[in-house]
Amino acid sequence: MIDDKIVLTGIKPTGTPHIGNYIGALKPLIDLSQNHKTIMFIADLHALNAERDAKAIKQHTYEIAALMIVMGLNLENTAFFRQSDVDEIYKMSNFLMNVTPKGLMNRAHSYKAKVEKNTEIGEDVDAGVNMGLYTYPVLMAADILLYNSDIVPVGKDQKQHVEFARDIAGYFNNIYGETFKLPTPVIGEDTGVLPGLDGRKMSKSYDNTIPLFAPSNELKKKIMRIITDSKTPEEPKNPDESTIFQIYKCFANESEIAALRKRFLDGGMGYGEAKTILFEKIDSVLSEPRKEYERLMANKSEIDAVLAEGAKRAGFIAAKTIAKVKKKMLG
Ligand code: TRP
Repeated sequence: MIDDKIVLTGIKPTGTPHIGNYIGALKPLIDLSQNHKTIMFIADLHALNAERDAKAIKQHTYEIAALMIVMGLNLENTAFFRQSDVDEIYKMSNFLMNVTPKGLMNRAHSYKAKVEKNTEIGEDVDAGVNMGLYTYPVLMAADILLYNSDIVPVGKDQKQHVEFARDIAGYFNNIYGETFKLPTPVIGEDTGVLPGLDGRKMSKSYDNTIPLFAPSNELKKKIMRIITDSKTPEEPKNPDESTIFQIYKCFANESEIAALRKRFLDGGMGYGEAKTILFEKIDSVLSEPRKEYERLMANKSEIDAVLAEGAKRAGFIAAKTIAKVKKKMLG
């Protein structure tokens, strides 16, 4: 059944999506799209304060879009688009600047972290801070309010930004009368972070990732590089402390998981064999979507067509909101 709450989220195109992104962030969004009206966009404008390479932004945008499409995003329920393709976002962001206290921006975690770092190394507090970074939360509030969102599922790191959007909606409503719904952040329950090749959290910044759609041979090479302890094949092993098993759990079904768990506990299986089992599982689960992904990446006009349709649907809502806001602010 479709809930009538509007779920909205943005995905920043900052790198080639890996298994950790998929399991931790993207798959939950795909699941949500099955029974909610969803507004989902690739937040290319949010990448601009740090990424100066247009080609990289474009490439990562296509990669995320193709991934979401082949992994089953429900396009009937979802307006799926590129943030920069709906012109109203620039207007909305500009309008909201005028009701956003500068002090609120000073309290944003990511800006504060920069200031602290600068202070530590004896630099000017604002060294390396552009206005895109400083006003990042306003742009995000513009996303959320432009599309009348009720619910914004985000990672923990983004919770403050959604709270700011709520604050900004409140300031606006106070001045101009009831206009915006107050959005609620929903923080995905911590399914535990997926470990990467070296056992630390899988993350681009640790260079320990497994790309979701790596070709088979590259996937195998990566998996074989997973760091393990030095237990012999005969020794029983603790599945819950094994990176191999943690990743396996995300791709296998219940009975397969139970079977591999037992093999860990029983002993008699070396890590090499466990890695082969993991590789074969991921390779078989992803082989069909990977083909479709490769096909789409070679035919980007198909991705463009999906995103254009999404932008049209989103633009319809955006235009109405902007008309309302402009009337309230300028008469
Ligand atoms: N800032 C978010 C991130 O870095 C991405 C994003 C942009 C977003 N606009 C949004 C998330 C609106 C939720 C709602 O992950």
